[in-house]
Amino acid sequence: MLDKQAVAKSFGKAAHEYDEYARIQHRIADALLKKCEPLAPDESNSDLCNHHTVLDLGCGTGYCLPKLRQCFKSSTIKGADLSEGMLAYAKQTYPMFEYSIADAEALPFEHESISLIFSNFAVQWCDSFSQVLNEQYRVLKPGGHLVLSTLVEGTLRELKQAWSKVDQRQHVNSFETQQNVEQAISESCFEEIDVTFRDEVEFYPDIRSLTDSLKRIGAHNVTQGRNRSLTTPKQLKAFMQAFEEYRQEEGLPARYHVASIVLRKPN
Ligand SMILES: C[S@@+](CC[C@H](N)C(=O)[O-])C[C@H]1O[C@@H](n2cnc3c(N)ncnc32)[C@H](O)[C@@H]1O
Repeated sequence: MLDKQAVAKSFGKAAHEYDEYARIQHRIADALLKKCEPLAPDESNSDLCNHHTVLDLGCGTGYCLPKLRQCFKSSTIKGADLSEGMLAYAKQTYPMFEYSIADAEALPFEHESISLIFSNFAVQWCDSFSQVLNEQYRVLKPGGHLVLSTLVEGTLRELKQAWSKVDQRQHVNSFETQQNVEQAISESCFEEIDVTFRDEVEFYPDIRSLTDSLKRIGAHNVTQGRNRSLTTPKQLKAFMQAFEEYRQEEGLPARYHVASIVLRKPN
């Protein structure tokens, strides 16, 4: 079970620096936002537009909210997040949107109340991807869409492998396998529109800049929280040596195995 309070706290603490370091998150968000374009309601149908509600689930600092506004010009746009700190930051930056504190696995929204749920890089911090899908299905209107990216196993693979040569403790967060994600989708009542998996890799000149960057986006503390005992200087040195074996011309890799998912709730 994830410690969701720790997740919320860790992201809240990172809110003021998050956008500066979230290069990969923003790149994936921009690609995911493109997938929303064909799903925007016909602007000439004012009845449809007036009742169209878009939710950015795990909105973080609110980076995607103005972009969703550009795509869904007349819709009501809402941001929701587990972290009060993130929400406070988003509210301050984009006061024109509505916000709710929310857990993706137990949403505080009515059945069939949302037209489209967008969620970038957030639901990997949940216990069960099947539960995430069930909950999104519940709150989506019939005909509504879920446009989501999440991380799956294979993420930070090199980091994990290097640590495994030092000790058997968990240093890297665990993620759902691609197979589990595919199975959860096929067992859900959603209609599959577009589901792809790909690797995105960021390179860093050294291990310190890589781990520092994870820390600045709030992803680091949660991982560390699972490893209660201190790492000795000897273990750290052994880890750094092991990780150096993965160095490429561009630097040390931080790999993200990303699922990009578009689903539709049938009418
Ligand atoms: C990596 S940030 C992504 C933020 C934003 N979507 C973006 O693309 O920049 C992950 C966000 O998900 C939120 N989050 C984590 N677990 C969540 C959950 N169970 N329900 C809702 N939000 C969650 C975190 O608080 C954080 O703001």
